[in-house]
Amino acid sequence: MNQDEEKRKAARAAMRHVEPGMIVGVGTGSTVAHFIDALAERRHDIAGAVSSSEWSSQRLRERGIEVLDLNATGELPLYVDGADECDGNKCLIKGGGAALTREKIVAAASRRFVCVIDPSKRVEVLGRFPLPIEVIPMARSHVARELVKLGGQPVWRDGVVTDNGNWILDVHHLRISAPLELERELNQIAGVVTVGLFAARRADVVLIGDREMA
Ligand code: 5RP
Repeated sequence: MNQDEEKRKAARAAMRHVEPGMIVGVGTGSTVAHFIDALAERRHDIAGAVSSSEWSSQRLRERGIEVLDLNATGELPLYVDGADECDGNKCLIKGGGAALTREKIVAAASRRFVCVIDPSKRVEVLGRFPLPIEVIPMARSHVARELVKLGGQPVWRDGVVTDNGNWILDVHHLRISAPLELERELNQIAGVVTVGLFAARRADVVLIGDREMA
């Protein structure tokens, strides 16, 4: 089975967590694209979606799913999103699609976070995938210097502007054996908007294809 079929399988399996009348939090990326397609088949059965990016909002609307404002919905029962890496504790690296800030907000506002991945995303130690960090543009060089002091090698994702008008640094050569501690430390750097480590709010359920990770 190729990688896209694995993504589709995981996305379809996440539909088991969707219940009638739910407002569903929706992530961003190629795996979530399959989830949105599956959700569209049940669009009359759900109350709408809260989206984590302009890209996902457009795809949802094109498929007839109403996109709701998180400020109006309150806490969500379910958030479904992909990841760039996932360790054995369901801690994640996210942000390959530059949507990490809104993804982190919707994940934080949801009771259950179901993460959908293909097998290539499962790792023992996070960090082979460069860690995305969203920064305020004027702080780019300052944040980059601080990251070098911590042993990382930040690379500016030149030309990419996030939905929030910010920039992305991708940090190479981090071996993240203590994700929660690193997330907290990086959050302290002035100018950092969001760190693409999802450890404080990790996934509750991880679906690798249609298999649930223990
Ligand atoms: C976007 C993300 C995505 O969930 C992550 O990049 C995985 O994407 P894909 O499903 O395309 O492999 O964090 O910011």
